[in-house]
Amino acid sequence: MTNPNVVPVEFRRRPRDQRRGRYMLHRAPRFNVTSVVWGPGESAAAHNHETWGVIGVIDNEIEETRYRVEEGAASGRAKLEVKAVMRHAPGAISCLVPGDEVHAMRNPTERDTVEIHVYGKDLAGLKRKIWDADGTEKPLITPKYMNC
Ligand SMILES: [Fe+2]
Repeated sequence: MTNPNVVPVEFRRRPRDQRRGRYMLHRAPRFNVTSVVWGPGESAAAHNHETWGVIGVIDNEIEETRYRVEEGAASGRAKLEVKAVMRHAPGAISCLVPGDEVHAMRNPTERDTVEIHVYGKDLAGLKRKIWDADGTEKPLITPKYMNC
């Protein structure tokens, strides 16, 4: 986090025709390290991770909204309650732990934001959940990374 230049420059930028860049930097049995590049205005709706995570901003900034999720309501939709809205600047670190690992992300700026993510599981192919603003749950499966 204190020396973003250790991440090769090609993993700190988006492919030309993509709104988001996602690269695997280190794959290990108990955790992995990835970089994520959010284009201007790019966002992800509320989603879970099925593991712990540590997210650090190395360039520009990101807005993170944390949610409390109540599933199993009579409506068939989950109830999402906003717990916090944070804006993370370079050097900031956000931790996801079981019970508090549902968030939405958004790059509210006009330029790319670069983050380093460490997760306890390999998210590629992992079955996760994403929620619409009205609480409708949908399956989320993260595709392969762009470099492997
Ligand atoms: Fe996330």
